[in-house]
Parts: sequence; C-alpha cells; structure tokens
Amino acid sequence: MANIWIKKSIPSLVAAEGTHGNNLRRTLGRFNLIMLGIGGIVGAGIFVLTGQAAATYAGPAIVLSFVFAGIACAFAALCYSEFASMIPIAGSAYTYAYATLGEFIAWIIGWDLILEYLFGGATVSVGWSSYMVSLLASFNITVPPELCNAPFAFDATTHQWMGTGSIINLPAMFIVAFISLVLAIGIKESASFNNVIVIVKIVVILLFIGLGIFFISADHYDPFIPPNTGEFGHFGWSGIFRASGIVFYAYIGFDAVSTVTQEVRNPQKDMPWGIIGSLIVCTVLYVAVGFVMTGMVKYDLLNTAAPIAVAVDAAGDTMRWLAVPIKVGAIAGLSSVILVQFLGQTRIFYSMASDGLLPKGFASVHPKFQTPFVTTLITGFFAMLVGGLFPIQLLGELVSIGTLLAFVIVCAGVLVLRYRNPEIHRPFKTPLFPYVPILGIASSLGVMATLPGDTWLRLIVWMGIGIVIYFAYGRRKSKLNSLPNTL
Ligand code: ALA
Repeated sequence: MANIWIKKSIPSLVAAEGTHGNNLRRTLGRFNLIMLGIGGIVGAGIFVLTGQAAATYAGPAIVLSFVFAGIACAFAALCYSEFASMIPIAGSAYTYAYATLGEFIAWIIGWDLILEYLFGGATVSVGWSSYMVSLLASFNITVPPELCNAPFAFDATTHQWMGTGSIINLPAMFIVAFISLVLAIGIKESASFNNVIVIVKIVVILLFIGLGIFFISADHYDPFIPPNTGEFGHFGWSGIFRASGIVFYAYIGFDAVSTVTQEVRNPQKDMPWGIIGSLIVCTVLYVAVGFVMTGMVKYDLLNTAAPIAVAVDAAGDTMRWLAVPIKVGAIAGLSSVILVQFLGQTRIFYSMASDGLLPKGFASVHPKFQTPFVTTLITGFFAMLVGGLFPIQLLGELVSIGTLLAFVIVCAGVLVLRYRNPEIHRPFKTPLFPYVPILGIASSLGVMATLPGDTWLRLIVWMGIGIVIYFAYGRRKSKLNSLPNTL
C-alpha cells in the first residue's frame, strides 16, 4: 500500500544534486537574479489587469490594493527564501513540499502550480494580444475584433457563460505557439538577454511615470475611495481588498526565481536577495503606475486590456510619441513573462514525471535540442486553447487563487519544518518566526477570500480533478514509494 505522506529527505536531495544532473553553470549573481525576478514579474498584471481592477473594484485606491498585495507577497517571499537557501537545488514549491509535507501535498502543489504557470502564461498571452492589436492599429493595420477576442465571457452577476460574438483570440495563440517552439528547440534565455528586456520594460514604465505625472488631474482622485455600491467588493474598502486579490497577479513571478537556484553562484546567500529584491522594486513601480494611471484618466474608463495605452492617449499630443514605445515595451515584457512561466511549468512537469507522478513522456528530453520538448509542446498546446478561448479577467483570478494556495503551502512548510527538523542548516531564516509564516498563511488566505465565489469553485473543481489523477495514477507509479525500505 503506497504511503501518500512519504517524504524526500533534504540531505539526500542536496547530495543527489551534487553528484549528478547539474550541468548548468553557476554564473548568476544577485544583480542577475533581481533582474530575472523583475523579468518574470512585470507583465500583464501591471500592463493589463490594473486598469480593470481600478475600474471595477477600487478606483484610484488601487494604489492601496498594490500595497496590501505587496505585503502579503513579502511574507511568502521570505518563506520562499528560507527554502531556496536551505534546498539550493532545482527548486520549486513542488520540491519543497515533497521534502516537508509529503508526496500527496507535493502533488497537490504541483497540480496547483499548473494554474500559476500554464494558465499564467496563457493569461499573459491575452494581454500580449491586446497590446499587439493596439500596436498594429498605430500603423493602421486592423485586426478584425472577432479574431482577437475570447469567444466566451463570464457574467459575474448572473453567473452565466455567454458568447461574445468573437471567434477566437488568434494573436494570443500565436505568441503561445511561438514561445513554446522557441523553448522546445532549446534557445535558452540567457541572463544578459533577460537584462536587456528588463531594462526596456523598466525604462518604458519609468517614462510613463515620469511624463504621466505632469498630466495628472486632481479631479480624477475625487473620490479616492469610491463609495461601495452596496455589493461586497464593488468599491469602498471591500473593493480595495478585492482589487488586491486581482492585482496580486502582478506580483506573481518572484517565486519563479527559485527555479534557477542551480545556476546561482552562491544560492544560500543570493537567493533571498533575488526573491525579496525583485519584489521590492516591483512594489515601488506598481504603486507609482497605479497612482499615475488613475490620475491621468478617470478610473471608470480604464476597463480595457491596454489601460496604460489608454492613459497615454488621454494625455494628448505631448505624450502621443510615447504610445508606440510603451506598446513595444509591453509586448517585449509580456513575451519574457510567458517564456519564464512556461519554463517554470515545464520544469515542474519534468520533476513530477521524474518522480513517477506523471507519465515518463513528460520527462523525456529531446536528443538534439536537450529540452523537455514533449512537455513543452503539451504545455503550449493547452495554453493555446486557454489563451485563445477565455477572457483575461477570469484567467487572472484563477491564476491568482492557484498561486495563493501555493504560498499557503510553502509558508506552512516553513512552519512545519522549523519544528520538525530544527537541526537543518538554514543559511537564511525568515525573521520574526513564527509570525512571518503565520502571517503569510493568513494574508494569502485573506486575499483568496476576496476572490469571487466562482473562482473558488473553479479552484475546487481543478484540485478535485488533480486528486482523482493522483489516486488513479501517481500514487501507484510513485518512484519514491516503490523504493525498498521507504515505507
Ligand atoms: N506577474 C506576472 C504578470 O503580471 C505574471 O504578468
């Protein structure tokens, strides 16, 4: 009888990493890690979802939503840092959970991370599509709306799905296919290439903030916290918290830094810098963008997939020259986020298949390209379907709730392990133990609680499917469970 709570031992994980399998060069330092973090973080959240969250839930107080979401992430970031420095191997929340909470919880988190990475990449592809269509329009090229929008929409008021009249979001499918192919044929995003993309993104955002600030109209901040409409989550303080659940998405990605641990020169010391440093930089940028955007345009006009472009257009001729650079910056930035998220997804599938919890094919490596190409193509195929068919807001909420669940489990893992294995060397320890992990769990659950009931339902259905697959397949095929003397 398989033991679903079986755990990998941390010393054996670290030893295995030291003896084989790490063909990657340890070249990354603190600066590269922070840049990589920003590369994986800054994407559809700030370029797309901010406007919708401001227009629908928080108004100009979206700034506060960013602060609250940033604080919730900081607790989780500290816990990720503790794990990443303690288990300095091809890390992910999946591996951390396997070592601390057992195989079943590891499976749960691995299955849950599909929501973060696969659905996350698909969500960003929808944002990419909006910016690309808008860029093409700047050159008088019109993409028919029925070919660049989701055919389905979900009406949160009536809880009904409905047709939009569109056929499919082709640009979203195109970028997913393109990036999947790039990943499959093994073109590896080097740290220096990433640095260039990140600098483009940051320059564009700083230009927006630096120039947009002159086009702020104080009237747009009045009221700063629009009164609640009578429904929970629609403006007022409940709206601010609900919006923090939406813009939380903008912070996702600092945890992806933990997937490159084995390429870091001094992971024990540098991982916490990469994870926490990138989070701090992004929080500052986001608060500033939220402030400037809602100051330039009345918040109710921002319910669009390209709100920064709307703000720039509203500023008139003086800023119009910035419209094209902003779109190019957003497109480049969104592409790198998709790349990083799909990379993360393929590594997690790869690890799960190597452990026997998914079919072997997921772990097969192409003889020439040396990439997990089957996994990459499967990831790309499903992400194409998701990106081509569904609206961005619904996807963003699903990705957020999935990631928050992963944060809860990682924070719980830190808590459990400190009590169970206090002897393990921890180069980085979360300060204020046990408050930080407890606050990490509480704030992640708190943000989850603000997300719509329909999103919870989708999470429950998704996890239910995962549990069925685990008991039907993974539990029986688990390599750890089939080793002698592990029971
Ligand atoms: N944080 C990433 C984004 O906003 C996922 O696109």
